[in-house]
Amino acid sequence: MRFQDRADTYEANAAPQRRFAEALAAFAPFKPGMRVTELGAGTGFLTAALLAQGVSVEATDNSPAMVAFGQQAVPNAHWQVHDAFGPIEPAKALASSGLLHWASNPSAVLRHWRAALPQGGRLLLGLPCDPCLIELRELVGEGPLFWRDKAQWLNLLKNSDFKVKAHGLLEVAETYPSALDLFRSLHRSGVTGAPRLDPGNLRSLIRDYDRLHRCDEGVYATWAWLLVDAVAIN
Ligand SMILES: C[S@@+](CC[C@H](N)C(=O)[O-])C[C@H]1O[C@@H](n2cnc3c(N)ncnc32)[C@H](O)[C@@H]1O
Repeated sequence: MRFQDRADTYEANAAPQRRFAEALAAFAPFKPGMRVTELGAGTGFLTAALLAQGVSVEATDNSPAMVAFGQQAVPNAHWQVHDAFGPIEPAKALASSGLLHWASNPSAVLRHWRAALPQGGRLLLGLPCDPCLIELRELVGEGPLFWRDKAQWLNLLKNSDFKVKAHGLLEVAETYPSALDLFRSLHRSGVTGAPRLDPGNLRSLIRDYDRLHRCDEGVYATWAWLLVDAVAIN
């Protein structure tokens, strides 16, 4: 991931992330007046949706550049640079969209999040899961992420002392004018790692994608997001 380097182009290239963050907020709204700590807030898609519910938001991200853009975009939240993968400050409730799947050990991260919450404290969680970007993964191979499916994520939460009260999987076919536009958009949103293909292989990959995943609007890519409303137990 390269979010710090791509903070200036993230918003314009993260339409799916924006829609999923807004859907997550609507899926299980917080009570007005609630104080929520958001983890991996990026430029503030979920932050803005939570504020619209009358929630007070402590928005955190480990990228100073993302926090700077977030502060401009959503000034009514309280922004802080903070690593969400280690111990975090005590919080009444946590919310996060599009972050946890980047952790190399999500169980350890969930244990830190559980430790920050009181018994019964809420975790509102959204994250991409299998079959997200399956067309691309079938062509390029897996990596840099290890992709989990819905059952695996729900099991991880259960084993980290969270009780899942409600969950849902949103799956959409996002369209792009061409495979090149899809690749550019992923690159500019910061979700790609270090280049794994030389220019020749990349060109042939783009040609294959255009050929295999054509639709009326250009090409399609499956995006899938798991929405979870959970509470801390034990
Ligand atoms: C895909 S973006 C999602 C941003 C936002 N939640 C959204 O829905 O648009 C992932 C965000 O997590 C942040 N991030 C990555 N690793 C992090 C960590 N260890 N602690 C806190 N934030 C992290 C990145 O800087 C980036 O802003």
